[in-house]
Amino acid sequence: FYPPSAGGGGGGVSAKDALGNDVTKTGWLASHPPGDHSLTQGLKGDATYLIVKEDKSIENYGLNAVCTHLGCVVPWVASANKFMCPCHGSQYDSTGKVVRGPAPLSLALAHVAVSDSDVITYTPWTETDFRTDLKPWWI
Ligand code: FES
Repeated sequence: FYPPSAGGGGGGVSAKDALGNDVTKTGWLASHPPGDHSLTQGLKGDATYLIVKEDKSIENYGLNAVCTHLGCVVPWVASANKFMCPCHGSQYDSTGKVVRGPAPLSLALAHVAVSDSDVITYTPWTETDFRTDLKPWWI
């Protein structure tokens, strides 16, 4: 057994907030409303969006915020229901699927789970990308 905060357990890591603290499901849902897409620190320290679903649960995937064009961090624009890259105009839908170039690929996925101690954990997504039915490009 590896505590999630130790970064063990099959390559999983605990999600961290802006202060470097573990993100808990209870704490996150208390401060993030349905539809929220906010950044956490995820696998390899990459900025990763944690998504709150309309039913007030946490989405079971996170989205790597690094634009697949040239690597800007892509902001979530709630009014457009999209991620819109300020660098060269690429757009991604609410699942991170690319809908406008020049970005060539969708945002990378990570699995999201909640540990027994209520901590949100990310693990690598190695299965088919459900948005494209293709193998993950990020593996
Ligand atoms: Fe995002 Fe170029 S880095 S569009």
